[in-house]
Amino acid sequence: MRAGVLGIGRYLPEKIVTNQDLEKIMDTSDEWIRTRTGIEERRIANDDVDTSDMAYGAAVKALEDANVDAEDLDMILVATVTPDQPFPSVSCMLQEKLGAKKASAMDISAACTGFIYGMVTAKQFIENAGYTNVLVVGVEKLSKITNMEDRNTAVLFGDGAGAMVLGPVNGERGVLSFDLGADGSGGEHLYQENENLVMNGREVFKFAVRQMGESSMRVLEKAGLTKEEVDYLIPHQANIRIMESARQRLDLPIEKMSKTVNKYGNTSAASIPISLVEDIENGKVKEDDLLVMVGFGGGLTWGAIALRW
Ligand code: ACO
Repeated sequence: MRAGVLGIGRYLPEKIVTNQDLEKIMDTSDEWIRTRTGIEERRIANDDVDTSDMAYGAAVKALEDANVDAEDLDMILVATVTPDQPFPSVSCMLQEKLGAKKASAMDISAACTGFIYGMVTAKQFIENAGYTNVLVVGVEKLSKITNMEDRNTAVLFGDGAGAMVLGPVNGERGVLSFDLGADGSGGEHLYQENENLVMNGREVFKFAVRQMGESSMRVLEKAGLTKEEVDYLIPHQANIRIMESARQRLDLPIEKMSKTVNKYGNTSAASIPISLVEDIENGKVKEDDLLVMVGFGGGLTWGAIALRW
């Protein structure tokens, strides 16, 4: 049996920070941010809400949606680059909060591609080791490492969490294929130094535009599918221009691409599941749809999944 999605949920902090709010504290403009990135506002978590709290909020929703008890989880995978602390892992903290006594737990560090890496890891345990319920969470509190003195990066990021329960599914549904990659030589373009995220935007942009398109095509080829068969694209919500490059590579009309970057900014590992929840709620993703999820991030890393919903 193939691994597929049993349930999905998300957590978004209530506090909204608009581009106009940022105009007041740094040398930037709503016009610059919108035209260069597509971002209009983002959510920022309060000081007393840490990464594991957001992960818990999303996980509870996903378990409810899947109708799975936390005690029946076999494994918890948390993709994040902004853990509460280096260890114990966020996944172990989440195991305790959920009371998921039977579950093994580990974090995955692949920056914005983390959720794709997490889903692919879950697939291996479900299809090759008989696991029935694996929780994958993508969560970031990027506001912890955002340097508000650096306008090149401060305007881009937001906080939030998305979660998915995966397990064996019948028929044609589930994760059909995946494409994962990394290029450590590009690590110098996006990294954390002391408490701050540092980025060479132009280099990351060039890398992202290339990989988002190529990885989307490779994942289809691996599943023996063509771009004409794709119903919906869920790209990592980093920047509308980068997302557009993947859409154009697949020749998809604009209404067939998930877009929440305007409302939540770049939430790194959380962006794909956060966007997917919105698409399901809005009826944009329907049963049996062929979805392509594709992301890129620090590392540098990239990854894509073809999924029959
Ligand atoms: N407000 C106003 N002006 C700004 C701002 C800002 N917030 N930020 C930069 N500028 C200025 C720059 O200083 C520069 O001015 P200069 O030409 O006088 O030096 C000018 O705007 C243009 O800068 P560019 O770098 O050419 O802008 P570009 O079109 O490349 O857009 C951007 C910048 C949006 C950062 C783009 O490069 C990008 O999206 N890169 C990818 C970033 C990304 O997605 N990173 C996330 C990776 S995910 C992860 O793993 C966390």
